[in-house]
Amino acid sequence: MAKKNPLIRPLVHELHAYVPGEQPKIQGLIKLNTNENPYPPSPKVLAAVRAAVDGRLRLYPNPTAEKLRAKLAKLHRCKPENIIIGNGSDEVLALAVRAFVEPNPKSKVQSPKSVVQYFTPSYSLYPVLADIHGAAKNAVVLNLDFSMPSISELKRGKKWNFNAALTFVTTPNAPSGRGYETAELKKLCRAQKGVVVLDEAYVDFANENALKLALTFPHVLAARTFSKAYSLCFQRVGYFVGHAELVAALDKIRDSYNVNGLGQIAAEATLDDLKFYRTNFKKIIATREWLARELTKLGFRVLPSQANFLLAKPPLLPAKEWLQKLRDKKILVRWFSAPEVSDYLRITIGTPAEAEALVQTVRRLAQD
Ligand SMILES: Cc1ncc(COP(=O)(O)O)c(C=O)c1O
Repeated sequence: MAKKNPLIRPLVHELHAYVPGEQPKIQGLIKLNTNENPYPPSPKVLAAVRAAVDGRLRLYPNPTAEKLRAKLAKLHRCKPENIIIGNGSDEVLALAVRAFVEPNPKSKVQSPKSVVQYFTPSYSLYPVLADIHGAAKNAVVLNLDFSMPSISELKRGKKWNFNAALTFVTTPNAPSGRGYETAELKKLCRAQKGVVVLDEAYVDFANENALKLALTFPHVLAARTFSKAYSLCFQRVGYFVGHAELVAALDKIRDSYNVNGLGQIAAEATLDDLKFYRTNFKKIIATREWLARELTKLGFRVLPSQANFLLAKPPLLPAKEWLQKLRDKKILVRWFSAPEVSDYLRITIGTPAEAEALVQTVRRLAQD
């Protein structure tokens, strides 16, 4: 075994880093693996970004993304002090771990103050963020249909920690797509003593959102992103909405210029053209429902989704083999090795033409 470089902390040596979905450059590839939006940003957003590419690039951007926060505050009917912007929502999730969780030196008895808690399956970044920080992880499995255990079940199960310093809830859930009702989330928030982050990365494709919980409970933050519904993955803009005291704490520890200037401009222009995006949400939801029906006809077990992806158990062959067979036909979907979901493929909703191509390819492969 190679000798470990003593210059590097043991924690980093031991870390299993987050594995992002592939971004291959294969001509003609139908890319349905990373939940990107199949539609480009609004022409007004592209024009705003183009118009900003000039000598201003030599200047630092606004350090607090002031204009963007003001626009978001108007949209969400809160104050700019209730909003912190990040370099993607990934950054604000990481800031939450650093601001609210005590690192947990291995020698000490585990305290709830060091616990990062989440359901499995959910966003696979959470355990990585906990590990980077040297925090303790408390992963609690969702029910078999990916619904959340009730509060009494969580109490009975014993494993759930109502005092955890930080609890992440992906809502709608990823990778299952399962939506959770605000009333259910409210019960969970009410029961938690530490900070709760409701990660609403996919909420624009869902029936309801839980933003009001972040604006009423002093310990709840809602995470949102421009990446998925607003076609801006490339620009990396996400944010938290929540109590001004939590936001101020996060603001203290973020990098001074964490949100790049073009990202701020693109996100501001997005908010000026929300009608354009609402039309896209409708198209994506319609394609999702069509694809779910067609895959079901072909023998897939498709879970109900409130996101821009489907989790589907394929027939005849193991999911991992389908992944490879589809890749050979230039269709890229995602497969996760985690036991709760290893029988499934996660399929991002593309354009109707991409969905049609997927269905035809699956039909042909199923006949081989
Ligand atoms: C549940 C969830 N939260 C957050 C993110 C991060 O989004 P971004 O950093 O692009 O805002 C993702 C991205 O895949 C996600 O699936």
